[in-house]
Amino acid sequence: MTHKRVAILISGGGSNMVSLVDSMVGDHPARPCLVLSNDAEAGGLKKAAARGIPTAAVDHRPFKGDRAAFEAELLKPLEQAQPDIICLAGFMRVLTGDFVSRFQGRMLNIHPSLLPKFKGLNTHARAIEAGETEHGCSVHEVTAALDDGPILGQARIRIEAGDSAESLAAKVLIWEHKLYPAVLRRYANGDRTPVLLP
Ligand code: GAR
Repeated sequence: MTHKRVAILISGGGSNMVSLVDSMVGDHPARPCLVLSNDAEAGGLKKAAARGIPTAAVDHRPFKGDRAAFEAELLKPLEQAQPDIICLAGFMRVLTGDFVSRFQGRMLNIHPSLLPKFKGLNTHARAIEAGETEHGCSVHEVTAALDDGPILGQARIRIEAGDSAESLAAKVLIWEHKLYPAVLRRYANGDRTPVLLP
């Protein structure tokens, strides 16, 4: 069988990337082809290299906010790797509509909230601040609008009295590591039915 090729974009430690990579074994329909970061120091790059996956980094900082120029460089390793699917996994740069449209229908993102609630940053603190009783994470198809696009899966947890942004982040991350691999497997099989956890 021909495996789908998956490129994973990261900015930091890459724990979601590791959970995706480690899931792509055996009868899984996909295999990782590239881990790409906007930060050459991102801890996830070493973890990917240790797993034998090609890595690349394009530092966004010299582009001083010129997103189109940054993305032109980001495209080079991606074009070489020829991914069928791109997974954003803690990739903390906002992509332009132009870039997204190249990969429309084959780019996924994981976001630490129950979308459409709490798009953007500081999701855990904002959920507590808003008095939410539930929180979680979502995987969605990437469209030009930030943290938007069809939802492909969600995992829900209760917010307990005494939860802090940090405790909530840690609890949600555990579910991110289950949700993203489950969605990717389904998606790589051509099935876009949302995965709902637990
Ligand atoms: C994850 O919690 C992910 O959901 C979040 O960054 C973290 C990355 O952790 N992503 C976003 O906030 C995207 N806007 P990781 O590097 O260990 O996977």
